[in-house]
Amino acid sequence: MVKHIAVIGSGTMGRGIAYQAALAGFFIHLQDISEQSIENAKAYIQSLAKKSADKGYINIEQKKIINENITYTLDLQEAVKRKDLVIEAVIEKMDVKIDVFKQVNEAGPGNAILATNTSTMSPTEIGATTKQPDKFVAMHFFNPVHRMKLIEIIRGMDTSDETVEVINTVAEKMGKETVEVNEFPGFVTSRMNCIIGNEAMNMLMEGVASAEDIDKGIKLGLNHPMGPLEMADLVGLDSRLRNMEYLYYHLGEKYRPSPILTKYVKSGRLGRKSGHGFYDYE
Ligand SMILES: NC(=O)c1ccc[n+]([C@@H]2O[C@H](COP(=O)([O-])OP(=O)(O)OC[C@H]3O[C@@H](n4cnc5c(N)ncnc54)[C@H](O)[C@@H]3O)[C@@H](O)[C@H]2O)c1
Repeated sequence: MVKHIAVIGSGTMGRGIAYQAALAGFFIHLQDISEQSIENAKAYIQSLAKKSADKGYINIEQKKIINENITYTLDLQEAVKRKDLVIEAVIEKMDVKIDVFKQVNEAGPGNAILATNTSTMSPTEIGATTKQPDKFVAMHFFNPVHRMKLIEIIRGMDTSDETVEVINTVAEKMGKETVEVNEFPGFVTSRMNCIIGNEAMNMLMEGVASAEDIDKGIKLGLNHPMGPLEMADLVGLDSRLRNMEYLYYHLGEKYRPSPILTKYVKSGRLGRKSGHGFYDYE
């Protein structure tokens, strides 16, 4: 039974996963290599717990649990020690993810299930570098984690039924619905989301409409809750570019990153996280 979880990477997703898992009663170690990121994550989690309690979404006891059940650390060995589940949420780069799991394996959390929160990448490839590929799986959360209902579970070639069953149980305890997907680049959700977002960026570049009107058209005309450009700003344009590059490499021309996306990332416009993207947030 899963009780103790390590979350590796405390950025946009890691902090959200830690919050939701603590709220569900799990004991969390949240680890990052960046002290700044850990400090930001702590401030984000405490502020979200306070706002949620003030608005009545959670009670005072739950707020207390969130604040008490998360330990913040820069030490990966300490984070993964005696854990039942390790969830990796570091940047979307295969070599970085493989290196993190190498360190996790060396720290030796024995029989723990290892999960990656990758948006696009192969759990088979990452899992094959670990000691127990049958205990490796992709557990794809959505942003913001406390509000989004879904976890997409992606089986690698060696992922066991038992591993998927445990992940389903953890997801249910976190109040989430799941879908099970066989491995393919981008799975179901990222592949679809990336292609819609990329098309919107190409339209913006071609002068078809303003960012506001593209998003309004898709929201009101196609009934999407968010426009594709505001969604890309929320995801982070650097993360989105890495997703597109992976899909382009593996699936070809249809997924070529829009030049405007590359240009925005080069200029440092990364979306909400930097204050500027397709929209201004300052
Ligand atoms: N942003 C989204 O909307 C979204 C949604 C679903 C899945 N994802 C996936 O989640 C993962 C994380 O994305 P994010 O948006 O949170 O990225 P992010 O850039 O916000 O955060 C990444 C964090 O990982 C840390 N990190 C980097 N190398 C590390 C290492 N070796 N050990 C520990 N920490 C390390 C960084 O310091 C940073 O705090 C990616 O695989 C991404 O594709 C993102």
